[in-house]
Amino acid sequence: MDDDYFDYETTVDLERKVAFVTGANSGLGFETSKMLASKNATVIMACRNLEKGNEAKERILDEYPEADIKVVYLDLSSKESIYNLLPFLKKKIDTIDFLVNNAGVMMPPFALVEGNMESQLGINFLSHFLLTYLLFPLIENSPEGRIVNLSSIAHRWGDVNWNAYNTPATYDRKKCYGQSKLACLIFAYELQRRLTAEQSHVKSFAAHPGASSTNLFQFVAPWQRPIMHIIERFFFQDATDGAMSTMRALLDPYLVPGSFIGPSGFRELKGDPVVVSSNPISKDPINGTKLWEWSEKQLGIKFDIEEMIR
Ligand SMILES: NC(=O)c1ccc[n+]([C@@H]2O[C@H](COP(=O)([O-])OP(=O)(O)OC[C@H]3O[C@@H](n4cnc5c(N)ncnc54)[C@H](OP(=O)(O)O)[C@@H]3O)[C@@H](O)[C@H]2O)c1
Repeated sequence: MDDDYFDYETTVDLERKVAFVTGANSGLGFETSKMLASKNATVIMACRNLEKGNEAKERILDEYPEADIKVVYLDLSSKESIYNLLPFLKKKIDTIDFLVNNAGVMMPPFALVEGNMESQLGINFLSHFLLTYLLFPLIENSPEGRIVNLSSIAHRWGDVNWNAYNTPATYDRKKCYGQSKLACLIFAYELQRRLTAEQSHVKSFAAHPGASSTNLFQFVAPWQRPIMHIIERFFFQDATDGAMSTMRALLDPYLVPGSFIGPSGFRELKGDPVVVSSNPISKDPINGTKLWEWSEKQLGIKFDIEEMIR
């Protein structure tokens, strides 16, 4: 068998596994939740709109009536919402086997979150850093804990000037999306370095879905939509196929920790989920350390893995 091959259909039963998926009501998060639920995992669907979350849950139950799904409120543009989740979760569960940092926005009009952070960096990356920090003890409780961060081919558009785009004058929506996805990737790699250094059994991966048909493209300008539809028809895959990168990162027992998974086809736009590479900036451990320290400072926390697993 090809070493770089993964068949999700043959995945063993996931009964008694608990998955936490952000942005679970739509697109890749929805498909990931559905696939995990179909394999009998308990799936916690974290959504910023409970109505949409419950409607998504019903759609999964229509197909898999036995599925064990809980919908929780999580707005990643609010630190308070992330902190509020923890006591609620701890009452219900003591272990998370799979954390999927999936939610995201792409190229919205300029906005700040928490009053000072460009929204794409804040929502796509920094909030997931905080969420990972808060949920880490629960993930550590799992003998096979895995954390998957969603990145993108667009990480190549980004740079590492984390505070550069916090004003309308400096905002560049494409660059900011790229930067946020670069940050997610640097975080996934740095997290694995730190887990390895502390000999933790928890594993960190990054995944990207190539180009997948989802709601992510809602901020494409009206005049670009006709072109977008043509591109979509020829170069995109559907959200189920897009979610396979995440599924492999979550479930393939043979993956090297710290791997980045994306589609195998032309320019990684679509295809089977395989191990892919990323740009040199993302792999530089100095950028990993700097991003980690910058994030801790922004959030006023100390995400010290050594301390947390002691
Ligand atoms: N689709 C692609 O081609 C592609 C390519 C590369 C990477 N990705 C990445 O894949 C991930 C999933 O995106 P998608 O393509 O599935 O897009 P999507 O269909 O738009 O799903 C995004 C999800 O994130 C949620 N979300 C947005 N802002 C949030 C916030 N402040 N708090 C909590 N949840 C929030 C959305 O909730 P609402 O429904 O309430 O808005 C939705 O559930 C993203 O990280 C994206 O960067 C996608």
